[in-house]
Amino acid sequence: MPPSFRIGLGHDTHRLEPGDGLVLGGVTIGHDRRAVGHSDADVLLHAITDAILGAAALGDIGEMFPDTDPANRGRDSAEMLRAAAARVGEAGWRIENLDCVIFAQRPKILPHRETIRQRVAAVLGIDVAAIWLKAKTGEGVGPIGRQEAIAAECVALLTRDA
Ligand code: CDP
Ligand code: ZN
Repeated sequence: MPPSFRIGLGHDTHRLEPGDGLVLGGVTIGHDRRAVGHSDADVLLHAITDAILGAAALGDIGEMFPDTDPANRGRDSAEMLRAAAARVGEAGWRIENLDCVIFAQRPKILPHRETIRQRVAAVLGIDVAAIWLKAKTGEGVGPIGRQEAIAAECVALLTRDA
């Protein structure tokens, strides 16, 4: 029997304000701004979490970790991704690959790409070759371009033995 395939899409946005760094893919990057959020505001891990949950049709990050719950304040997004991956794995799904984009005017993401890929691979317990990451500026326009916001998107492919 050929395996079943499912794709999922995740998207996330956080507001930026003056601060001392960003957490992206579980990696802290020095910067003159910070992302505002109930958790650690890791926009990349939030997009990945929604991509895998969506592919498996098993909910979304806000359902699993409501921002009205004080227990989720300052929560480590890697812990939320691990919980989502466990839910997806219990349903029999394997993550074949993730392809991600960070939308940020600054800082440059490419110098951090390998560190972030390694960290995401370690959180998920999958091969680093299954994870890719790109970045785009906002070309100086819109909330991304004005550095008022940072966003991320991820597509995930899951397979399961049919
Ligand atoms: O050249 P193009 O308009 O397609 O893209 P860009 O948004 O101007 O990004 C140019 C290059 O910078 C690309 O290789 C991006 O991967 C990289 N980049 C980055 O490392 N970090 C960002 N925050 C934005 C872009
Ligand atoms: Zn988020």
